Amino acid sequence: MTAEIIVVTSGKGGVGKTTTSASLATGLAIQGKKVAVIDFDVGLRNLDLIMGCERRVVYDFVNVVHGEATLKQALIKDKRYETLYVLAASQTRDKDALTQEGVEKVLQGLSEEGFDYVVCDSPAGIEKGAHLAMYFADHAVVVVNPEVSSVRDSDRILGLLSSKTRRAEKGEDAIKQHLLLTRYNPARVAVGEMLSVKDVEDILGISVVGVIPESENVLAASNSGVPVILDETSHAGQAYTDTVARLLGEERPLRFLEVQKKGFFQRVFGG
Ligand SMILES: Nc1ncnc2c1ncn2[C@@H]1O[C@H](COP(=O)(O)OP(=O)(O)OP(=O)(O)O)[C@@H](O)[C@H]1O
Ligand SMILES: [Mg+2]
Repeated sequence: MTAEIIVVTSGKGGVGKTTTSASLATGLAIQGKKVAVIDFDVGLRNLDLIMGCERRVVYDFVNVVHGEATLKQALIKDKRYETLYVLAASQTRDKDALTQEGVEKVLQGLSEEGFDYVVCDSPAGIEKGAHLAMYFADHAVVVVNPEVSSVRDSDRILGLLSSKTRRAEKGEDAIKQHLLLTRYNPARVAVGEMLSVKDVEDILGISVVGVIPESENVLAASNSGVPVILDETSHAGQAYTDTVARLLGEERPLRFLEVQKKGFFQRVFGG
C-alpha cells in the first residue's frame, strides 16, 4: 500500500490553502483514513496553530529531513482523531532546508507507516517550497478565490502541475487536478464584484470539486485551533465536508451558492 499524496496549492498567496489542508486532512481522518498533514511553509509555520497542536511541536519536518529526529518523533498525533497526524514546519531554518531527496524520504516513510493520505500544505508562490510540495503529488487541490488575479495565477500553477512534477517527468498518468473555490461570496457575485463559479470554471477549463463560502466562522475556528470542518453549524464547515466526500468519489451537489436571505420577514415570507 502506498500513500496517496495530495498537494494543496495556489498561484496567489493567502487564498486559504492552510485552512483547506487542515479541514481536508481532518475530514479524511473522520472517514477512517490514516492521514498526515505536512506544513511545507518553512519559516512561516501556521498549520500547527490551525490544527491546535502548536504547543506540542518539539521536532518538525526539517528535523526529519536532516536526520535529527525520526518520523515517529516528529509526527504529532491529533488530540481529536486517532488516525490524524501533523508534521509541523520549522520556524527558524532557512528556505533551502528542504531537499527533494529529503522530502521523498519522508513521504516514503509515511507510506511504510501505513498512511492512506498525505496532505501537503504548500507555501505561497511558485518558489522552491511550493515546487517541493507538489513534486511527488498524485492529486492537486488548487485553491482559488473568485477574483481575476487569483484565477490568473492559478493558471500558472496548473501549467506547473502538468509539467514540473515527478509524474510529468516520468511520463506517468497526470496528477489529478481539483479546483477548490474558497471565500465565495454570493452577494458580491450577484453584483458583479466577484467571479461566479461558472466564470472560474470557464476561464480555467476545469470544474470545481467544491465551493467554500466566505465565512467568519473560518477565522474563529483558526483562532481556537479547531479546523472549520469540525464546526458543523457553519456553511464553510459543511462545504468542506462535501468536498471531502467528492474527493472520495461521492457525488454531491454544490451548496451555498445563492445569496442568503436575511431578516425575519424575508425568512418567514420568502421573497
Ligand atoms: N472561507 C473563508 N472565509 C473567510 N475567511 C477565510 C476563508 N478561508 C480562508 N480565510 C482566511 O483567509 C486568510 C488566509 O487563509 P490561509 O492562511 O488558509 O491561506 P494560505 O493560502 O494558506 O496563505 P499563505 O499563502 O500565506 O500560506 C486567513 O485569515 C483565513 O482565516
Ligand atoms: Mg498557508
